[in-house]
Amino acid sequence: MTTLRIRRPDDWHLHLRDGAHMAAVLPHTARRFARALVMPNLKPPMTTTAALGEYRARILAALPPGLAFQPMMTLYLTDRTSPAEIERASASGYIVGAKLYPAGATTNSDSGVTSIEAVWPALEAMSEAGLVLQVHGEVTDAAVDVFDREAEFVDRILARVVERIPGLRVVFEHVTTARAVEFVRTARPGVAATITPQHLLLNRNAIFEGGIRPHHYCLPVLKRERDRLALVAAATSDDPRYFLGTDSAPHARHTKETSCGCAGIYSAHAGIELYAEAFEAAGRLDRLEAFASERGADFYRVPRNTDTITLERVPWRVPDRYPYAGDELVPMRAGDEIGWRLSGE
Ligand code: DOR
Ligand code: ZN
Repeated sequence: MTTLRIRRPDDWHLHLRDGAHMAAVLPHTARRFARALVMPNLKPPMTTTAALGEYRARILAALPPGLAFQPMMTLYLTDRTSPAEIERASASGYIVGAKLYPAGATTNSDSGVTSIEAVWPALEAMSEAGLVLQVHGEVTDAAVDVFDREAEFVDRILARVVERIPGLRVVFEHVTTARAVEFVRTARPGVAATITPQHLLLNRNAIFEGGIRPHHYCLPVLKRERDRLALVAAATSDDPRYFLGTDSAPHARHTKETSCGCAGIYSAHAGIELYAEAFEAAGRLDRLEAFASERGADFYRVPRNTDTITLERVPWRVPDRYPYAGDELVPMRAGDEIGWRLSGE
């Protein structure tokens, strides 16, 4: 049997939700990853240091015994986020950044930023305090084609942010296009990107394969094959700017299999195994550890993990559903095989 032992990875972009839903999905992540950056797009959104402190405590309390998982937190930016709130976040010790959702871009983004002009003071304060900006990089302009929203965001917004605040460290989250990859590759120091398993493994045909496939709908939406190839090339390159962020985003089955389904793909059940597949297909399993376990920690200036996980080249069948606090969750690759499994699972 082929096995692959790597330094334990971190997930730098994760949706955990809250309450019983959070408790249902947390073990999948905590068995694989040492740390995860937990997204703040809850209802209501996590816009204060105090709210994030309580949310973090709920996550820690829901951890199964024996798992030493550390949630890292990020503040939900709004038009009204004050420099004082940024300073409180920075002093907390557990908040490492703030997340910019353009208002209306995605799930629970209604309280997000309506104009970049509104957040310059907060972004300046973040630069001073050393907090990292995480960006959902899509314009919300209804006149812009949904497949072009990321590329437009680069030109209209992100390039200006990066230039105007040279000390601000920025993660362009879940990049999906060749344009975004190129922007990050050539940007000034302090700019990086996360890449999801679905954007490495699937192109937009997967949304329409034999019929409409709501479980392949996420935001930013899957793109063309040439974009996927650019993402694979970036992730498997030796460029330290690209690292792992699953964007695992659980939604109850009935909220996806409906006339207006939610955006989000659940991948935490195989949050490292799916990347192993993508890296193997590219012939670059040797780069998986850097992408999954080193570059993100280095960018966020936290120590690399010292323990390891072992992956085995043994196919396993993903369940059709997982229980989800009285509902059901349809995971990525449901009912099909994944080529790698986590040792001990
Ligand atoms: O597909 C997505 N789901 N994209 C996002 O930006 C948000 C996420 C969610 O929270 O469900
Ligand atoms: Zn996300």
